Amino acid sequence: MKLLVTGGAGFIGSNFVHYVIERTDHEVTVLDKLTYAGNLASLEGLPDDRFRFVKGDIADAALVDGLVADADAVVHYAAESHNDNSLADPRPFLDTNIIGTYTLIEAARRHGTRFHHISTDEVYGDLELDDPARFTEQTPYNPSSPYSSTKAGSDLLVRAWVRSFGLQATISNCSNNYGPYQHVEKFIPRQITNVLRGERPKLYGRGENVRDWIHANDHSSAVLTILEKGRIGETYLIGADGEKNNKDVVELILTELGQPADAYDLVVDRPGHDLRYAIDSTKLRTELGWSPQYADFAAGLADTIAWYRDNEGWWAPQKDATEARYKAQGQ
Ligand code: NAD
Ligand code: DAU
Repeated sequence: MKLLVTGGAGFIGSNFVHYVIERTDHEVTVLDKLTYAGNLASLEGLPDDRFRFVKGDIADAALVDGLVADADAVVHYAAESHNDNSLADPRPFLDTNIIGTYTLIEAARRHGTRFHHISTDEVYGDLELDDPARFTEQTPYNPSSPYSSTKAGSDLLVRAWVRSFGLQATISNCSNNYGPYQHVEKFIPRQITNVLRGERPKLYGRGENVRDWIHANDHSSAVLTILEKGRIGETYLIGADGEKNNKDVVELILTELGQPADAYDLVVDRPGHDLRYAIDSTKLRTELGWSPQYADFAAGLADTIAWYRDNEGWWAPQKDATEARYKAQGQ
């Protein structure tokens, strides 16, 4: 297949591109605007005969139409992805997550192209810490932030295009990803690179919020499974049973890097901060036979820490500006 991967220079998109090139015969074209979050260094080492890169905006209808016409399937990762940025300036989230997705699905329906939409568990809102329930495909949408509300909006557009226009689409909603090549604005890379630089990790609020962690490679294997075997019109939740509270994650990072486990700062909380996410991925596992390979979070985290220690050249150019933005917010 010829795949068009949007947002393929970002954290999870670039992981998927490497994953697909290594394990299949598919050809990949990446369409990416190279915002602050895109990095061509994450796509190094790919073969010229099966990979090409196009710099551009998913909201550019003429560019998108030509690329979608030439593809057998679109895998749509491109997004403004960071909650804190969406609180500071929501507009780019509307432009990319809503108008960009609209532009892509219009092209996909014109050309009858298979479409897979990458979304997030955040569309479901949050859960209480002691709630035995987890998110399922039936959980009502209840997003909290400008980021998650635009992702929810994009999911609803895809669903409407399936029903009204017969768009050949599937949707996946995944939990929090970790692994190499994640931007230093995000929680785990921020804390690792803080400690590597002799700074203290910064926990929002009391550090009690819970995220359901999955290694990015497991997200990629799930997306490839859905692309190959998923039923058109269906939504699949992706998760690896990795619930941890933020304080426990920071303590693991500090310990792995030889620091006292309590050498962190509590800082101003995120407005509207979702308390807990938790994914029930039974449908994906039973219907499509998928299962995650990274069962040991502490081991995956240790590998991720080692990658950041060995690849300062990849993350250092972003670190000062990112920390300056957080400092201005008291975080
Ligand atoms: P990221 O911010 O690391 O990468 C986003 C990529 O999209 C960047 O390369 C950026 O340049 C590109 N991009 C942004 N606007 C664009 C535009 N208008 N046109 C073309 N390219 C554009 O994001 P990520 O963490 O890799 O997330 C990728 C996708 O996965 C997003 O859709 C996100 O909602 C979803 N997701 C992320 C997570 C997570 O934990 N990071 C979990 C579940 C779902
Ligand atoms: O659940 C999937 C989502 O996970 C994706 O849709 C988003 O694109 C992705 O960014 C992520 O969203 P979160 O808001 O959960 O991730 P973030 O890395 O920003 O924060 C994780 C948790 O850590 C959250 O509870 C906020 C907290 N946090 C974050 C930062 C940056 C801190 O305590 N300190 C920090 O410095």
